[in-house]
Amino acid sequence: MDNTNSHLSLKLVGICDHDFLFELYNQSDKRENRPSITKENNKKFVNNFVHYYKNHIFDVWYIVKFDQKNIGSVTLRKNTNECGYWVIPEFQNKGIGSWAFNELMKLNPRSFYGLVIHPYNKRSLRMAKKFGFKLNTYKFIKKI
Ligand SMILES: CC(C)(COP(=O)(O)OP(=O)(O)OC[C@H]1O[C@@H](n2cnc3c(N)ncnc32)[C@H](O)[C@@H]1OP(=O)(O)O)[C@@H](O)C(=O)NCCC(=O)NCCS
Repeated sequence: MDNTNSHLSLKLVGICDHDFLFELYNQSDKRENRPSITKENNKKFVNNFVHYYKNHIFDVWYIVKFDQKNIGSVTLRKNTNECGYWVIPEFQNKGIGSWAFNELMKLNPRSFYGLVIHPYNKRSLRMAKKFGFKLNTYKFIKKI
């Protein structure tokens, strides 16, 4: 991983990242039940983060880069300090998600962090445990 780490960096999200972030959003596993969004709405969401930060839900939003290539994203929400992390499939399971999540917390110290993880997501659960997160809420859903 030492060699990989020297290629990795975090960059604050900018307007030009909306296409990549739209792709990343659409790669979400169906079991996440994430609402579908239009390209236009995604662009607005990114634009709001850059220009109307005060009203945005994210406190921090980074692109994960491998050299010049965009390979993922990490987020930190205002108030709840809920974190999010995504790595594109071809770069997964190489320690990059762990690196990015660790950097996110290191660069943005808080007294606590939150994670919402679906039970199917063993890799993300593994990461949460590795970073010392403890289960404190059960959230149920009934599909009609
Ligand atoms: C979750 C995610 C960000 C993790 O990033 P990653 O770069 O793949 O993860 P890492 O390689 O840093 O570490 C994954 C850990 O899970 C383990 N792991 C991998 N596959 C696993 C599996 N099927 N079951 C259990 N653990 C698994 C790895 O061994 C590693 O643990 P280790 O560090 O103790 O060896 C990435 O898989 C991803 O983007 N998934 C899709 C989006 C997503 O689910 N985001 C999180 C929403 S809560």
